[in-house]
Amino acid sequence: MRFFKKDVAAASPAHAKGVNHNNNVHIIEDPRKQVYHWQSEGGGKKSSVDDMVLLSKITESAIAENLKKRFLEDKIYTYIGPVLVAVNPFKQLPYFGEREIEMYQGAAQYEVPPHIYSIADTMYRNMLIDSDSQCVIISGESGAGKTVSAKFIMTYITRISGGGQRVQHVKDIILKSNPLLEAFGNAKTTRNNNSSRFGKYIEIQFSSGGEPLGGKISNFLLEKSRVHSLNDGERNFHIFYQLCAGATGDMKNNLGISTPDYFSYLSQSGVYKVDGTNDAYEFQGTLNAMSVMGIAEETQMDIMSVVAAILHMGNISFTEQNNAATIADAAYLAFPAYLLGIDAQKLGQKLTSRVFDSKWGGKSERVDVTLNLEQAQFARDAWCKGLYSRMFDYIVETVNKAMVTDANLFSIGILDIYGFEIFGRNGFEQFCINYVNEKLQQIFIELTLKSEQEEYKAEVGSNPHYQPFNHGFTIKHYAGNVSYHVENFCEKNRDVLFTDIIEVMQGSTNTFIRNLFPDVLQKGSKTRPTTAGTKIRTQANELVTTLMKCVPHYIRCIKPNETKKPHDWDEQMVKHQVEYLGLKENIKVKRAGFAYRRPYQKFLHRYAILTKETWPAWHGEPTEGIHVIMRSVNMDPAQYQIGRSKIFVKDPESLYMLEESRERKFDHYARVIQKAFRKYFSKQRYLKEKVAASDLLVNRKERRRNSLNRNFYGDYIGVEYKPGLTALIPRRDKVEFALTVDKFDRRFKKTKRDLILTKSHLYLIGRMQVKKGPEKGQIKDVIKRKIDLENLSQATLSTYQDDLVLIHVRNDYESLLEIRFKTEFLMVLNNKLKERYNRELPLNFINSFDFRVKKTGWGGGGTRRVRFTDGTTDEPLFSSSGSTLSVKIAHGLSSTSRPGIQVITPDIRILANEMRSKSNNVPGSRGNLQPPIRNHVNRSPSGSLITRPSGPAPKPPGLTGASPRPRGAVGPQFRPPLAQPVTNPGFPRPPVARMPLNPGGGPPAFRLPRMGSPPIQAVQPPPPPSDPCPDNQPSIGNGSLRSVNRLPASLPAKPPINRPKPTVPQVRALYGYDASDVDELTFSEGDIMVLVQEDISGWWTCKFRGQEGFCPANYLEKI
Ligand SMILES: Nc1ncnc2c1ncn2[C@@H]1O[C@H](COP(=O)(O)OP(=O)(O)OP(=O)(O)O)[C@@H](O)[C@H]1O
Ligand SMILES: [Mg+2]
Repeated sequence: MRFFKKDVAAASPAHAKGVNHNNNVHIIEDPRKQVYHWQSEGGGKKSSVDDMVLLSKITESAIAENLKKRFLEDKIYTYIGPVLVAVNPFKQLPYFGEREIEMYQGAAQYEVPPHIYSIADTMYRNMLIDSDSQCVIISGESGAGKTVSAKFIMTYITRISGGGQRVQHVKDIILKSNPLLEAFGNAKTTRNNNSSRFGKYIEIQFSSGGEPLGGKISNFLLEKSRVHSLNDGERNFHIFYQLCAGATGDMKNNLGISTPDYFSYLSQSGVYKVDGTNDAYEFQGTLNAMSVMGIAEETQMDIMSVVAAILHMGNISFTEQNNAATIADAAYLAFPAYLLGIDAQKLGQKLTSRVFDSKWGGKSERVDVTLNLEQAQFARDAWCKGLYSRMFDYIVETVNKAMVTDANLFSIGILDIYGFEIFGRNGFEQFCINYVNEKLQQIFIELTLKSEQEEYKAEVGSNPHYQPFNHGFTIKHYAGNVSYHVENFCEKNRDVLFTDIIEVMQGSTNTFIRNLFPDVLQKGSKTRPTTAGTKIRTQANELVTTLMKCVPHYIRCIKPNETKKPHDWDEQMVKHQVEYLGLKENIKVKRAGFAYRRPYQKFLHRYAILTKETWPAWHGEPTEGIHVIMRSVNMDPAQYQIGRSKIFVKDPESLYMLEESRERKFDHYARVIQKAFRKYFSKQRYLKEKVAASDLLVNRKERRRNSLNRNFYGDYIGVEYKPGLTALIPRRDKVEFALTVDKFDRRFKKTKRDLILTKSHLYLIGRMQVKKGPEKGQIKDVIKRKIDLENLSQATLSTYQDDLVLIHVRNDYESLLEIRFKTEFLMVLNNKLKERYNRELPLNFINSFDFRVKKTGWGGGGTRRVRFTDGTTDEPLFSSSGSTLSVKIAHGLSSTSRPGIQVITPDIRILANEMRSKSNNVPGSRGNLQPPIRNHVNRSPSGSLITRPSGPAPKPPGLTGASPRPRGAVGPQFRPPLAQPVTNPGFPRPPVARMPLNPGGGPPAFRLPRMGSPPIQAVQPPPPPSDPCPDNQPSIGNGSLRSVNRLPASLPAKPPINRPKPTVPQVRALYGYDASDVDELTFSEGDIMVLVQEDISGWWTCKFRGQEGFCPANYLEKI
């Protein structure tokens, strides 16, 4: 069997650092482009398998062998399907950094090398996708790496989940709870230098957006006997040593702290140090963690007082006389009594005697009984462990309070319970620990194995579990036979502090200590206090109930040796673990059956996106929906089976295939959304540009109405389509602005020029007829003037609304131009100067100025004057006498005018599209008298929403409210009257400016014709005015494709010669139109387009040059 996956993300710093995490990984530098080939067998040197489902032989030896190979190559993680097997490397490996956190996010299990981050990521994503709580059960023996695994998961999840300040605080608490609880709950044992001596289930609670809002820790089975009894080679809880090493001088004085060997609770094992651990440093970490939990400094000192008191209590020893214990040296009572806030004598008394409530003949009596030596020691130790465990519970409770949240949507739970233990002599604690582990193993079997194959149950469930033996009993646990010694079982099970000790503590002068003993003591009560056994059984059952509500994940930790050394492989030890963890059965079951299962609804929900029918929800029979999805990905029917409530998928590849298809779909839609956003933001950018541009002129120059709200396009010529022009401009010199303008010559005669502004130059390009040679008679583009932007010194304009711009060039003559889109031009030019030379373009506003003309031949040079005076028309009237040009022009919009804000949100566009298709069904609705509306939503008389693509379509050129303007009425350069879109008939046809129909502001009142009302005849626009081409000048700048030998546009257009009748509906453009939005088409007069859809709104959909878009209907005629 062989997997072969490519084009997927995978990487590891292990690779980067030359440690090949997987032999079959092909490495490419960019982690996101890496290709991870998952191959089980064949293909060169066979190493190990990432997923042991792919092992060719399934024996315990083969499993151990596979794990060994990987372990020796520093690959500690291996899968059995979704279960992660983790071998403790006993060294820091390099693949737990930022890069891996990045790499495993959203990556499917098969895409990347096995890793604990993958499990963590799967949990997090499943939680969000399925809205289900998840849990991970981390099992393995002591020192196998459970706690380290739990921490990796917590770190990964806190890193990848977002959140603001409050969430960061929650994350901080979650992470800092680890060192805090480890200080009080972990200890060095012979098996593990940082052995968890309590079980922990931490739930991280999330918002629906996946941000951690809070958390909850449940703790189990603190091994409190460690407080007073240590095995050889072991230590007490870390906090004792931390305090001894890290306390300040003051603290030491106040708490009576000395070196650990002074305290008999610590000295009994003779081990004080742990390799690689600095207790003093860790102490600071513990205090810091307490501060993060919000524990005040005084309370921190109270906690340390209890820790110290316990150490001092341990030094109290007893002698025995007549079977009665007495305090060996009363001097040892003073310090613990002081720290506990109780009387020293009372302490001594309570350690050596006990009050009993006894009943004689119906009368209740308190009897003071003296204790023997053994009983006194027991009382002392019970007192100490009672104190310690209550303090531990207080700390857990404080952590919980610090991260409590009401929101309990869903959670990720991490169970790190301390591992199965088999000692030479196993007592009550081991029994409880192993009981919980047994319970967890049952869940594992229940959820992963048993439910898949009854055969496993038969295998594991057939042995008698309980057998008595001489000093106790033997339990046949899943991890092996364990014999328990029953000695002290009952005492330990009772596990209650004597009532009179509790009373003493409740009388402490120290509030903190009093609060640790809130017990309500009911004298003479017959209700039996709960025993340790009942407590752990209840806790274990509760835990199982909690876990069963979550989607479980498993990490099976394996300890490779007892030496704690890297690369040391103890074959027998590993095999034993492989055996009792049931890994072989796990693999067999996975291989035999339909290993992946999901309830119908979960499956339908997860893969809904794969088909139109199932998105967003499938409403039919669930099984039918599943078939629809499976068919859509061409799933082999043998690969899945539909059960009673679940679907079963056979091979992981099939599941991966579904996942991959799903991912691709998401990717596709993400791109669609991204596009819409880009479009939206580009509109915002346009708006900013418009504002920036008008800022150049504001308060300085009157504005033309139609120039205010115009969109900026930059290139109004289409330079890239014009080989004649592109040949003149170096390819690297990007065109920033291009427009056909009028240039005034020395006699104030206007000549057409293509003004092209690139990032470094300003070009004025004209036409010339080739006089001789093979191209004789052809019209060619020639550079008439090329100005290096560096030399462009300033520009002069009048304060009127005219378009005249005088360009000043350092040490050279000026150019007087009439630039229709002067605002945009000046803005672009200014930006270029800022970018390139870090300077702005100085602008002069003056109504009379002189300029130098080009020196040509003999008589050239000299200066000319331009004078502006009030006129009556919006179009300038030019008249010249001698060297002065007089410009008469009416006042335009105030110089304080600024562009209005029109923002079209993407969803309005979607709505518009929907409405367009609806409105097409309206019978007889073609045509209207009014201009169509853009940019706003109207209500039809019937109340339905009628939305057009956006805003009113422009009126065609020459169409005025009353009568068409006679041609040439305003002078040589016709300009449509105000409130008309600007199309300059004849030569260059600049785009139609979008103007508000109601210049005062909002859209005009407008109603569509009533539904079903008789069709209204469209008013045909009058013919456009004729082309006022200046004499002797070839036409330039026509929006259509140009060739070098095209005829001047001023020549009369030839009548169409027998155009074949179109087979598809077509339209001809009556006038040129420049798109003012991305979904509109740009076309020139005479262009023929395919009519895709007519629309009542006046915006028709046409196809032109392979593009489909909206066109204003009144610019078109059907042919
Ligand atoms: N992934 C790892 N990388 C490096 N070292 C590790 C890793 N896992 C475990 N170790 C080492 O092994 C030690 C024991 O691991 P850990 O404390 O997690 O074991 P455990 O299973 O929680 O044991 P216990 O049941 O005793 O609490 C760690 O302190 C660490 O030194
Ligand atoms: Mg642990």
